[in-house]
Amino acid sequence: MNQALRLGVAGLGTVGASLLQLTQRHADELALRCGRPVVVTAVTARDRFRDRGVDLSAVAWYDDPISLAQSPDIDVFVELMGGADGSAADSVRAALDAGKHVVTANKALLAKHGTELARRAEQNSVSLNFEAAAAGGIPIIKTLRESLAGNRVGRVYGILNGTCNYILTRMEREGIAFDVCLAEAQRLGYAEADPTFDVDGFDTAHKLALLTAIAFGTEINADAIYVEGIRSISTADIEAADELGYRIKLLGVATRTESGIEQRVHPTMVPKSSPIARVDGVTNAVAVEADFVGRLVLSGPGAGGDATASAVMSDIADLARGDVVGTFGRPAHTLKPYQQAVMRSHAGGYYIRLAVYDRPGAFASIAKRMAENNISLESIVQRRRAPKADAPEHPQPQAPQPVMLITYETTESQVKEALDRITADGHIAEKPQMIRIEQLA
Ligand code: HSE
Repeated sequence: MNQALRLGVAGLGTVGASLLQLTQRHADELALRCGRPVVVTAVTARDRFRDRGVDLSAVAWYDDPISLAQSPDIDVFVELMGGADGSAADSVRAALDAGKHVVTANKALLAKHGTELARRAEQNSVSLNFEAAAAGGIPIIKTLRESLAGNRVGRVYGILNGTCNYILTRMEREGIAFDVCLAEAQRLGYAEADPTFDVDGFDTAHKLALLTAIAFGTEINADAIYVEGIRSISTADIEAADELGYRIKLLGVATRTESGIEQRVHPTMVPKSSPIARVDGVTNAVAVEADFVGRLVLSGPGAGGDATASAVMSDIADLARGDVVGTFGRPAHTLKPYQQAVMRSHAGGYYIRLAVYDRPGAFASIAKRMAENNISLESIVQRRRAPKADAPEHPQPQAPQPVMLITYETTESQVKEALDRITADGHIAEKPQMIRIEQLA
């Protein structure tokens, strides 16, 4: 048997502990599949004495990640600490400069410094692999980078955040409020340390930035992503979507256009018949549309220790076998500068919810503003709020009532212009809700 591949693992949280369990439980099978044993020889974490349910007696302990990254006793530095900067960035750079391969699950780090780190890996003739950084256990990085190497990708999109999908699913199924669902996702360990990263869409944006770089061969530009999270989604929106034949999902979408790449993250109404609409709970799904293969949809667990450790191990197995692929599927120095699409305006249908004061002329004024902006309406639904038990028999004439509109295909700028005018006209009581409709096959 060949010499063992020696791993130094930085970070023993949920994923790190699962990775150690995996290497111990599947040691024999891994050795056969990789052609050599794969062993964790050294670790570092914040708290040496915490019980993680794994045996660390045969493993060297390092107090600081940079010393571990530079240790002569490891071949691969496995970064599972998280964070875009600080220890994670410093130790990954130290490992690459010390000639160690790096495997990381850190999407925030790569979304910020990925191009630089890929170049650094190339200059040091080592690999930087990150299968676990996007969509957890789904092998989307390898699929894009290796299996679809013969394709020109047109669009990649998906549900990339388990916490948001869990929240939207429970809100839909049980009519439970957003905050209650979020607390439950945190309790189950799906959410990031700071859950605003999840619910405000930044976690999805980080992952999308990585998929974009591989799919389109560009340098990473996470700052160019239009990002909107799910905080504003109400159970009323979810119910309306259901009645209209849609479900609401937080999607990340990257599209090749004639003028460049369009990247966006926002709640989206998708037809109930589309595969993406049927992805529930913490499950993620990624769809790729490419010229030779057509459309592929991969779904699976997007979060959780074991699923993420499975993805980390797939990168380690490549290194153990000596399979070397450029970080983003091509030599890092050939990544093209990111060119943002000129029109970052989504073209398609829109769902709009307005809280309209119930008075003569309100509807006519709204319809006029839509027409002025060339927006054609597919449907209008007005819901009369159920009166409170102690309310007068008829609602107050001024009480705002929810009105839902679905538009035919139009552009974002026209919708925004119409909503600005409607707001200025004074017929609505709160900021309009607007959700993009995506007609996914
Ligand atoms: N917080 C992330 C999610 C975990 O909810 O999907 C993995 O990135």
